[in-house]
Amino acid sequence: MKLTWNEGRHGLGQEEMDADHREFLALLEILNDAGDEEFPVMFQKLVDHIRLHFVREGRLMRLEKFPALGEHEGEHHRVLGELLQFNRAVKRGRLPLARAYVRIGLPEWFELHLSTMDSALAAHLKRHVHHQSGIAAVQI
Ligand SMILES: [Fe+2]
Ligand SMILES: [Fe+2]
Repeated sequence: MKLTWNEGRHGLGQEEMDADHREFLALLEILNDAGDEEFPVMFQKLVDHIRLHFVREGRLMRLEKFPALGEHEGEHHRVLGELLQFNRAVKRGRLPLARAYVRIGLPEWFELHLSTMDSALAAHLKRHVHHQSGIAAVQI
C-alpha cells in the first residue's frame, strides 16, 4: 500500500497536526525504500517521531479540553506499544514482520486514525477560539 501526502485527502487544516502527518508519511516512504542496513536506523526515527507526534496531539487535547482525550490517547498508547515491540525485533535483526507492518499495517491504521480520531480533534480545535488565535499568529 503506497501512501503519499495528499492535501485534499489528508489535510486537516491544523498546521501542527498536518506537519506531523506529512512527516509520518515521508518516514513510511523512506522505510519502504530502505535496504536492510538503513531500515533499523529509520525505524528508530519513526518511533521517535511517533512519540513526539502523540505528545503534541496530547498537548492540544489538554489545552482545549478535548472530550475524547482518554479514547484518543488510549489508541496512541496501543500503537506506540506495537511500534516498540517491532523495534525490539528489528534491533535483533528480524525485519520481515516490521517491513510488512510499515507497508500495510501502519498505512491502514493511519488512514483510519486520521479520518476518525485526528479529524475529530481537528474539528474540535477549529471550534475553539483560544487555539484559533494561537494558530492565526503562527500562520501570518
Ligand atoms: Fe496524528
Ligand atoms: Fe492521533
